[in-house]
Amino acid sequence: MNIDIQLVPTAPNPNLLFDRAVVVIDILRATSVIIQAMSQGVSEIIPVTTVEDAFKMAKAFPPGFVLLGGESESKNIPGFDLGNSPREYVAERVKGKKLILTTTNGTKAFHRVSSGKEILAGSFFNIGALAQRCLESNRDLLIFPSGDEGNFSLEDTICGGMLIEWITKKGEKSISLTDASECARILYKKFVDNLIGAFYLSRHGKELISRGYEEDLAYCARIDAIPLVPIFRDGVIRIPLTPSASP
Ligand code: MLT
Repeated sequence: MNIDIQLVPTAPNPNLLFDRAVVVIDILRATSVIIQAMSQGVSEIIPVTTVEDAFKMAKAFPPGFVLLGGESESKNIPGFDLGNSPREYVAERVKGKKLILTTTNGTKAFHRVSSGKEILAGSFFNIGALAQRCLESNRDLLIFPSGDEGNFSLEDTICGGMLIEWITKKGEKSISLTDASECARILYKKFVDNLIGAFYLSRHGKELISRGYEEDLAYCARIDAIPLVPIFRDGVIRIPLTPSASP
C-alpha cells in the first residue's frame, strides 16, 4: 500500500486516481462540519462549489426539504440556514435533512478528486475509523488537504500526517511512503501534543479568530470523537450502509 499526500491543492492527474482511495481533509472547517453533521443525523450532503449553485440546487427540492449551509470568506451567507461552524450542526436543527454545502476550499476539493476510486471525508474527529477504513480498502492512498485558497494548509497537512502515522502504526501491511508523506508525518510529530498551537499559527486559523470563530479551533481539534467515515460518490456525501461497502 503506497501513501502519498498532495501538499498544494491543485487538481491531481485523474489517471493517478482511478484506482486510488482519496481522503479529503479540511480541518477548518468543511470536513469537520461534514463529519459532525452526519453524526447529528443529516441524511446526505451535496457539496457545491458556488453560492449561486447552492441556491439553484435548493430550488429543485420541496421547501424545507433541504438546508443550505456554508461560508464565503469565512462569513455566513445571507439567505442560508447555517454557517460553517461545526458547533451549529446539532440534531435539533439538522436530523433527517439533506444539506447543500458550499465553502471556499473543502467543497471544491471533493470535486477536484472526483475521479478517485473511493473518496472519503477526513478530519481529526474520525481519524481512528478513517485509518481503519483506509487499511480495509487496501488500496494505494492519496491524502488531499483542501488547502487555503490554493495554498499549503498547516492544519490540513498535520491531520494528513496523523492519518499516515495511525495507518502505519495500525497496519501489518507493507506501507510505502512518498517524501511528501514522510514530511507530513514529521510535521504531525512536531505538533502531536499541541494541535491547537498549529491552528493559532496558521493563516486560516488567525482569520477565523479575527471573524469571531475562535471556539471552532478548539472544537475542530477533538481527536477520534466521531467514528464515522462519510463517502463522496456521484456528487453526494453519505455514510455507506455497510462500513466496508466500496465500489
Ligand atoms: C473552507 O472550505 O475553506 C473552510 O471550511 C472555510 C471556513 O470554514 O472558514
